[in-house]
Amino acid sequence: MVSESLVHVFLVSFPGQGHVNPLLRLGERLASKGMLVTFTTPESIGKEMRKASNITDEPVPVGDGYIRFEFFEDGWDDNEPRRRDPDQYLPQLELIGKEVIPRMIQKNAEQGRPVSCLINNPFIPWVSDVADSLGLPSAMLWVQSCACFTAYYYYYHNLVPFPSEKESEIDVQLPCIPLLKHDEVPSFLYPTTPYPSLRRTILGQYNKLDKPFCILMESFQELEPEIIEYMSKICPIKPVGPLFMNPKAANSAVRGDFMKADDSIIEWLDSKPPSSVVYISFGSVVSLKQEQVDEIAYGLLNSGVSFLWVMKPPQKDAGLELLVLPEGFLEKVGENGKVVQWSPQEKVLAHPSVACFATHCGWNSTMESLSSGMPVIAFPQWGDQVTNAVYLVDVFKTGIRMCRGEAEDRIIPREEVEKCLFEAILKGPQAEERKRNALKWKKAAEEAVAEGGSSDRNLQAFVDDVKRISL
Ligand code: UDX
Repeated sequence: MVSESLVHVFLVSFPGQGHVNPLLRLGERLASKGMLVTFTTPESIGKEMRKASNITDEPVPVGDGYIRFEFFEDGWDDNEPRRRDPDQYLPQLELIGKEVIPRMIQKNAEQGRPVSCLINNPFIPWVSDVADSLGLPSAMLWVQSCACFTAYYYYYHNLVPFPSEKESEIDVQLPCIPLLKHDEVPSFLYPTTPYPSLRRTILGQYNKLDKPFCILMESFQELEPEIIEYMSKICPIKPVGPLFMNPKAANSAVRGDFMKADDSIIEWLDSKPPSSVVYISFGSVVSLKQEQVDEIAYGLLNSGVSFLWVMKPPQKDAGLELLVLPEGFLEKVGENGKVVQWSPQEKVLAHPSVACFATHCGWNSTMESLSSGMPVIAFPQWGDQVTNAVYLVDVFKTGIRMCRGEAEDRIIPREEVEKCLFEAILKGPQAEERKRNALKWKKAAEEAVAEGGSSDRNLQAFVDDVKRISL
């Protein structure tokens, strides 16, 4: 029975895996600090989450608090391929959300669960308008790095020159951030980006940045010290990551996967020698070209390296062809490799048989690799991934590059794939140094989230603020 005295926070998530994961993990952390947390996102995703994960209608006890779920209809028709176009989907979500969420909050109050604060993640900044209209405080969880937050902030406010149509190859100097080459800034800011609507969507948040009383961040003080320090003087930032490390909720973890992970993976990894497998996964949104899949497949075959490869089927509304492996690939690979549609990534990264993670450098995957002490092969595709790759290779020093800048429009040939795989898996002073660095970040991450660590203190301060405001 959920106690009525618990302070209640209401989390609204954009319906993407890379958004749901960190917000849900934040929800768990808040619950473990004695809050009642309601997590909401559109039912079209809720349906998938219920099927793939352990979510039911019952509140889940986490530490001293609870987390519960409510989903809402976003008017998205399964048969209409609309979601992929942010220009159509996002205004619709805003229209519906602004109507539905106040009703959900009202209903919660009537049922004895008055809400004290709304928290949203990127792409849905209108949640802070909803909070305003209800006289409630709001906060936002930024799900990328502080460096990328800064790049967008500086672009939005026109504070330093960025590549433009006239000067497309200039370097960008942001405060406390290494000099970024023109193709190392988040690629939605390239003058030639094929995703201008995503640029508008991301920058749209900076319109309303004065509304949330706190910007929680999926990063930690020790990971990006100078830039966090610098931006904290400009915006009310509180880094609280890595959010997937919850020292208090190991046994009651709630997962929000949209797809069920393959059950046989861990057993397969158990059968492999220590540090022998390359884990390959490109997150939840990236879809490679068929030619690139072929080159990776031949690179793997030619190298003979043992691998676990996540080949996620394309989102059903994306209008993309199912990717296929070269004929006879699986037979040739035999027990040396495994191809799955979805993995329990955190467990895979923690597995002793895994030597290295070939990643698209999404920020969640980046944080998960660092906090698991896992070296990477950086294969960024677009958006913040290109900047995250610079950090992984040059700043955090845990990775090698498969490519620079955006890989989406290029095909990395099999020889290059093979070379990277060898470099990543071979024992030697450089590989050892990358592993040592990765383990150093793991330790720093553990310390940040442990009781009294930098992220734990920030989270506690946030909880205290919400409690004080709600009195
Ligand atoms: C999106 C953007 O693409 C990314 O650039 C941005 O930083 C966050 O939002 P996504 O591409 O899905 O994210 O990548 P990522 O941020 O890495 O998030 C993927 C999540 O799915 C991770 O938490 C990862 O653990 C999980 N995952 C992925 C699995 O659990 N199993 C898998 O097989 C693959």
